[in-house]
Formats: sequence, C-alpha cells, structure tokens
Amino acid sequence: MSEKVLTLYRKDELSAMADRLQRPLRDLRISVMDRCNFRCPYCMPEDKYHPDFEFLKSSERLSFEEILRLAHIFAGLGVRKLRITGGEPLLRPNIAELVGDLSRVPGIDDIALTTNGILLAQHAAALKAAGLSRVTVSLDSLDDAVFLQMSGGRGSKAQVLEGINEAITAGLTPIKVNAVVKRGVNEHTVVDLVDHFRGTGVIVRFIEYMDVGTINHWQASDTVPSRELLTLLQARWPLTPAQPNYHGEVAERYRFDDGAGEVGFISSVSEPFCGSCTRGRLSSDGQLYTCLFASRGTDLKGPLRTGLSDEQLRALITGVWSQREDRYSELRARSPATEKVEMYYIGG
Ligand code: GTP
Ligand code: 5AD
Ligand code: SF4
Ligand code: SF4
Repeated sequence: MSEKVLTLYRKDELSAMADRLQRPLRDLRISVMDRCNFRCPYCMPEDKYHPDFEFLKSSERLSFEEILRLAHIFAGLGVRKLRITGGEPLLRPNIAELVGDLSRVPGIDDIALTTNGILLAQHAAALKAAGLSRVTVSLDSLDDAVFLQMSGGRGSKAQVLEGINEAITAGLTPIKVNAVVKRGVNEHTVVDLVDHFRGTGVIVRFIEYMDVGTINHWQASDTVPSRELLTLLQARWPLTPAQPNYHGEVAERYRFDDGAGEVGFISSVSEPFCGSCTRGRLSSDGQLYTCLFASRGTDLKGPLRTGLSDEQLRALITGVWSQREDRYSELRARSPATEKVEMYYIGG
C-alpha cells in the first residue's frame, strides 16, 4: 500500500477491508423507511409519489432484528459510524428502540439521524435517552413560501424550528442543518438561514443540488457552486477555512472570525470527494449500495431470511466491498448515469 494511503487512514482502519481504490468501509447509512411526509420536488415529486404510489409493505422492510444483526456484522468489518435515514426515519414506528439497540453494538462510536424535522419535537427526548448521539435536520429555507416550494407544500418552517429547539434541549448536539440550494429557487434565502443560526451552536451546511435519482430533471445550471455561496456569505461575515473534523468529512468547514460558530459546504458537484468515500448504504428493503448514484445494490435481505450464517453474510459483504470502484461524482461530467437508485430510497 502506498505511503499516501497510509497517512490518510489510521492503522486500525487499514486492518479493515478496503475497496479497489483502497477506501475502507467506515460509515453505514441505514434507511429505515422509504416513505416520507414531504414531497420535495427534487427528491419525491408529488406527481410520481401520489397517494396511490405503492411503497414497501412492512414485511418487505428489514425488521429491527435484521438491521441489528447486519449492524453487528458491519461493525466487525470496520464500520464505526451509523446514520439512520429514510425517506423520513421518524415515520418508522418505535424508532428509538432500534437506536437503543444500535447504540450498544460494539465498535460503533457515533449514531446520527437525518430528518426533515417535522416529527422531531415529539421524538427528541426519547431518541436521546435511547442513545442517539446527534441529529441533522434538512431545512432549505426560512422563507415560508420558499420552504413550501422546496418541501412540495408539506409541513412548515415553524414545526421544523420547534423540532430543532427540542433537539437542542435534549442534547442531540452538535445539530446540523442541511440546506439543498437550487438555482433560482432558494439561493436568495441562504444569508437569512445563516443569520438565524449564527451563534446558536447549530451548524448550517449547504448542499449543492445533485443529479441523484432519475426523476428530478437535474441540469448542471440548477446547481449553485459552493464557491458562489461562500463569496456571498463572506461579503457579510469574514470566514476562515477550518480543518476537517475527520478524514473524509463531506462538508468543507468555515469558521466565523467573530467566534459565532461555523458553516459548511457540501460540494459533491463542483468538488467531488469520492477519493475518501467510506460510506455504504443499506436500503429499507435490505439492499446494500456502494454509491449514492449506483444503479443497483446487492440483496442482503434474501440471504438473511434464507438462513445464511453471520460468517456467510460477512463474506458476501466483504466480496461486494472489495470489488467496489464507485466514484460517480468524479466521473459525472464525462459519463452521466441514466439509471440510478432514487435518493429517498437510500437516504442520501
Ligand atoms: P457528519 O457525520 O455530520 O459529518 O455528516 P455527513 O456529512 O456524513 O452526513 P449527512 O447525511 O449530513 O450528509 C449531508 C449530505 O451530503 C447528504 O444528504 C448528501 O446530500 C450529501 N452526501 C453525503 N454523503 C455523500 C456521498 O457519499 N456522496 C455524495 N455525492 N453526496 C453525499
Ligand atoms: N441534491 C442534493 N441534496 C439532496 N437531498 C435530497 N435530494 C437531493 C438532491 N437532489 C438532501 C435532502 C436532505 C438529505 C438527506 O439529502 O435535502 O438534506
Ligand atoms: Fe423527504 Fe428528505 Fe426526500 Fe424531502 S429530501 S422528500 S424530506 S426524503
Ligand atoms: Fe461516494 Fe459515490 Fe458519493 Fe462518490 S458519488 S462520494 S463514491 S457515494
């Protein structure tokens, strides 16, 4: 293994399996629910996800026991961080119970949950008590009309802010707010969003609008490059780049010079970060995806339900990861994919 790779990963990470580009498997994003109570046009447009759309039946979703068994196996293969996603994960009944079980899996040292925040106020205390480390809340704008445009007319900014406040009270910190920025839709509201959370400890991060899935009719001109947003924010508040918190951190961080906290930029389109991508994704029906932009996954539910042993499942996962060579965001410009899994299905 080259010196460069050796300096990028800690020794214990190197002992874990690596893919073809020498990237270990460190993070597992677990989608626990394919449904969502929002209809963000860039993710689940209402015309496709209408009231008659057939989501998974509960028996088709992995049970808590199955998720837990896989989590043990993944932790044994080097996973240290779990992120619970959806769709909307708080729609999954008894989610705190699962969080509690996952928090006791040996080797896991961080469990986060990504939510749209609508149901967060009522779940925050129980999630914290169960062992959740922190939450990341999607909130694209504080302008009521823009918020509704981005959420497909569902929910309200007030409910999301209440959810964030309850999460602060419960101690689910550091809380991050993720805002997807789409050209011509919400870019004029980014300064307000930062202004609102500056000095509160909540970290706002802007995500470049991406060509995930096949139904959002993405065009390159819809993406506002992070550089542009940085310039916009710097005109108001002096910002200084900060070191990543850990190798492979997705967001580029900047601190306010006046000590009021930080903001982040997730620039998957303008500055891809595939080289350090250590993320695996498990869909709610038990498919393992090795990239957010993959066209297909590997079924783990069938093997789980037909009685494969832990050792056999371990070998299956190792085989998939060791063959991995995904780096879609780096290749996007040259070869945009036409067949991709939808983001709500694997949780972003
Ligand atoms: P922290 O653990 O808090 O650092 O969060 P994170 O950045 O790992 O996870 P989060 O779910 O908050 O990621 C924010 C967003 O970044 C996701 O919703 C995606 O839009 C994008 N993102 C995360 N991981 C990837 C990835 O592997 N590839 C691409 N292209 N985008 C990603
Ligand atoms: N581009 C960028 N981010 C997206 N998300 C959903 N769809 C897209 C997209 N097309 C974000 C959500 C949420 C996270 C899970 O992924 O807004 O913050
Ligand atoms: Fe739901 Fe998140 Fe998709 Fe919006 S982006 S529809 S909140 S899963
Ligand atoms: Fe990882 Fe695929 Fe995203 Fe690249 S595009 S960072 S390989 S998930």
